[in-house]
Amino acid sequence: MEELEIKMEVKNLSMYYDGFKALEDISLSFPRQRITALIGPSGCGKSSLVRCLNRMNDLIEGCRVEGSVTLDGEEIYDPGYDVIALRRKVGMVFQRPNPFPMSIYENVAYGPRVGGVKDKGTLDAIVEDSLKKAALWDEVKNILRESGQRLSGGQQQRLCIARVIAVQPEVILFDEPCSAIDPVSTQRIEDLMAELKENYTQVIVTHNMQQAARVSDFTAFILVQEQGEPGRLIEYGDTNKIFTNPDDERTERYITGRFG
Ligand SMILES: Nc1ncnc2c1ncn2[C@@H]1O[C@H](COP(=O)(O)OP(=O)(O)O)[C@@H](O)[C@H]1O
Ligand SMILES: [Mg+2]
Repeated sequence: MEELEIKMEVKNLSMYYDGFKALEDISLSFPRQRITALIGPSGCGKSSLVRCLNRMNDLIEGCRVEGSVTLDGEEIYDPGYDVIALRRKVGMVFQRPNPFPMSIYENVAYGPRVGGVKDKGTLDAIVEDSLKKAALWDEVKNILRESGQRLSGGQQQRLCIARVIAVQPEVILFDEPCSAIDPVSTQRIEDLMAELKENYTQVIVTHNMQQAARVSDFTAFILVQEQGEPGRLIEYGDTNKIFTNPDDERTERYITGRFG
């Protein structure tokens, strides 16, 4: 693999929900300004793994993480680590677009407001800039006061991306961001991810193999070998290699749809 600056790194990570071990001994790195895809069958632990990256799992009762996760070399599970700052730096976009029940403008201004920005001119500028970066500005610039929930699914997803961008994240996690939207909107999100590469480190969970192959630079394949076992990292590497010449036979079976 080419020499790249590592933005986030997971080392020997295991994760439990009470007594159930969902992930075992995962080690992989997320290079800066690159897109890494997490693929694997439903239930292998992809969502659990991305939630480890911004400590969203802290919100789940009984969830426990072992091992190391670093952001810019700093251990995010250290007791003194600022979790609020972490969730700002490592933003998340979910499967179902989930705009807040407020106007388009307020959806985007929400994070900066919570962060203490009060000046209207500053907020206006952040909202415009974030919506432009999320490739939504032209469609909504004249309806900023309308409810975000009245937009189409694809527009809502871009609004959620604008909401994340508004708090100036460094890493954006996408958990199956296109599985609830139509193909044209999916294309727009994929194009947008390519545009965002310059400024952000991105991680995408997808069950769509073509999508992983199209958008990502690196791919990690996770698998539960036998029911009840934890998800393990089977193979990780350059996306082209994973999709054309994987090292592991299980990866080969999965990407060619011959799994199970
Ligand atoms: N909040 C939770 N409590 C208990 N078990 C969970 C929870 N979330 C996920 N799991 C279990 O952890 C495993 C991995 O789930 P998940 O991370 O959602 O997989 P994926 O995103 O790859 O479909 C599954 O066995 C799932 O049932
Ligand atoms: Mg999932």
